[in-house]
Amino acid sequence: MSVGIDDISFYSSSLCVPLTELAMRYGVDPDKYRIGLGQEEMAILAVDEDVVTMGASAAWPMLNDENRGNIGTLLFATETGIDQSKSAGVYVHRLLTLDSNCRVVELKQACYSATAAVQMACALVMRQPERSVLVIASDIARYGLGTLGEVTQGCGAVAMLIKSDPRLVEVCPESGCYSEDVMDFWRPNYMDTALVDGKYSTIVYLKALRQSWKHYQQAGGIAFPGFSRFCYHLPFAKMGEKAHRKLAVTCGESMSDALLTEQIGSGLIYNRKIGNSYSASLYIALLSMLENDTEDLSGWNIGLFSYGSGCVGEFFAVTVQPNYQAYSRRKAHVDQLESRQVLSYDEYAVLFGQHSPRIDGEHDFLKMTNGRFRLTGLHDHKRIYIETTVC
Ligand code: COA
Repeated sequence: MSVGIDDISFYSSSLCVPLTELAMRYGVDPDKYRIGLGQEEMAILAVDEDVVTMGASAAWPMLNDENRGNIGTLLFATETGIDQSKSAGVYVHRLLTLDSNCRVVELKQACYSATAAVQMACALVMRQPERSVLVIASDIARYGLGTLGEVTQGCGAVAMLIKSDPRLVEVCPESGCYSEDVMDFWRPNYMDTALVDGKYSTIVYLKALRQSWKHYQQAGGIAFPGFSRFCYHLPFAKMGEKAHRKLAVTCGESMSDALLTEQIGSGLIYNRKIGNSYSASLYIALLSMLENDTEDLSGWNIGLFSYGSGCVGEFFAVTVQPNYQAYSRRKAHVDQLESRQVLSYDEYAVLFGQHSPRIDGEHDFLKMTNGRFRLTGLHDHKRIYIETTVC
């Protein structure tokens, strides 16, 4: 039986900051961000949005009366948890009006957890092929004003329906994993920005890639020439290029600039405009590739590398299904990115300070988002989410 991604959709915010704004403010050559890191813009979240509203908004377009009741499990992957106890997915379950018999759980391991969710979802579908699993990955990357990581901030959510006989991509059963206890990136419970040893994290990322690939090959995975395309976790687009060159060297393959662009270029398009979306970023890359590649990818194998600091890496493959283009949501995604409000540095800096909820658990958020769902406030320490009338 074939199992994989039957539908996929993303949502980011309605606000963005061009990195030229940051370059100007900090007196940095804009090419450092555009070429050195491969980024153009970063998505900034409205004050009345969070991982719940983004996740629900990503999933909403995929759901209808026919498939809603068939979802047996909702797996919510995030490293931007909003509660120590309650899963963000339970709020999403209500906003999406999912069946009360659907199980819900949240998963965490930095940017990696969506891949754990996809693998677990495939196993669940294998067990109950008539049911589907909704995987949502939703995250907000925040490093702090004036930090080195600031230009690699961003936010976004991706929703995937995992089913038998999928319409988009089959997830191949072989995979290679690598885990090691390292401190390259973490966010203690008492902080709302991440701590990161940025250079070290790129070194560990590449080590995890090599080790995951080695394990993937031992598991009987496809050899390098058997792949036409590759998608990588993208803290910034240039990391994907570094990773692909490293993998080629590991496999004894030569990698020209043209071949690099051909094999990974279409997967970088959306991430360059969103920035880091942590757990969602690999799957936004896959979506970007399926929607923007100039070749018909039907029948081709795409290699996926997932990395979560701390750290866990996993390499696995998907095979693109015939006629996948018929189910594309490209227009909606491109419209979403093109209609964003562009913020100046000063507007962004003001917004940056407004996200932390007040410690006393009482707060009303200004109406700012134009998305379908919003966080109106916290009352009596309870988060209040609504579906807006503006869609
Ligand atoms: N034109 C073109 N390229 C330029 C440039 C210019 N004017 N100025 C600098 N660059 C290049 C550098 O050569 C470097 O490229 P290289 O990595 O291929 O050598 C790149 O831009 C980045 O510059 P550098 O000074 O090395 O990085 P930085 O100190 O600004 O830090 C990160 C970059 C990614 C480490 C930092 O943004 C960070 O900590 N991010 C958060 C953590 C993260 O994303 N980790 C990734 C793994 S999960």
